[in-house]
Amino acid sequence: MTLTIIPSGEACGAAVAGIDLSRPLDEATVAEIRTAWLTHHVLAFPEQTLTNDDLERFTQYFGPFGDDPYIAPIPGREHIIAVKRTADETGPIFAETWHSDWSFQKTPPAGTCLYGITIPPVGGDTLFTNQHKALDEMPDELRSKLEGKMAVHSARNGYAKAGMYGDNDTGRSMDIRSSDEAMATQTHPIIRKHPETGREGLFGCAGYIIGIEGMGEEEGFALLTELYRWQTRPEFQYHHKWQPNMLLMWDNRSCLHMATGGYQGHDRLLHRTTIGARETVTA
Ligand code: SIN
Repeated sequence: MTLTIIPSGEACGAAVAGIDLSRPLDEATVAEIRTAWLTHHVLAFPEQTLTNDDLERFTQYFGPFGDDPYIAPIPGREHIIAVKRTADETGPIFAETWHSDWSFQKTPPAGTCLYGITIPPVGGDTLFTNQHKALDEMPDELRSKLEGKMAVHSARNGYAKAGMYGDNDTGRSMDIRSSDEAMATQTHPIIRKHPETGREGLFGCAGYIIGIEGMGEEEGFALLTELYRWQTRPEFQYHHKWQPNMLLMWDNRSCLHMATGGYQGHDRLLHRTTIGARETVTA
């Protein structure tokens, strides 16, 4: 199978044509997709009519399923969650802040697949920011403050009882289950090598990152804010526009992403799977 890869022309992202993901893929094709994924960090596969089985099969070409805490899977499936909002919902948009999925885990997931089912006619784009490019172009002065620093990640701001999706979050159609377990913390280097390519990048951002090891709260917050402003600059971004029947896969080790709103009065439904981390082959 010969794939056509069309780079977005932005800081990351490419569309992939010439493939039917409703059929099993051979090893060479999977390897080609993996190379494109590691190169462009976000891949969009338009015009794919996929069942849940197809989505699960595709995900498993790239790793084991990741562990999805705090969001119940859709009925009958263990590894698919629904990213969903109904036309009349008024609460905060799910995931409308920059993040790398589940970065608070000990071994955060490699990637995420998101399949567009009901796509609103306006809004609901997903934004990405390339964290290799953000590091490559970072001023030395900021980089020197981050070298060797460990970030403290936690799900607490989102998924603890007092968090954004906790006890006060009512009227949401997504099946989010907040928990005290979200108070846990986990450290990861702020600058780290991509586990597969060995390329250096920034990992995570304020939100799931709640502090910096060895720094006071105020000092840590100031540095995280300076970092956040840099790593989310427009020149590092890719602005993804959805179509129904489009599959997107992104690399959580290379980019941050966020959902956006702007589709009040319209339903939005996507099915999401998580690609767990595999062996480390750091260069
Ligand atoms: C997510 O972070 O998984 C949600 C992205 C989106 O809804 O666009």
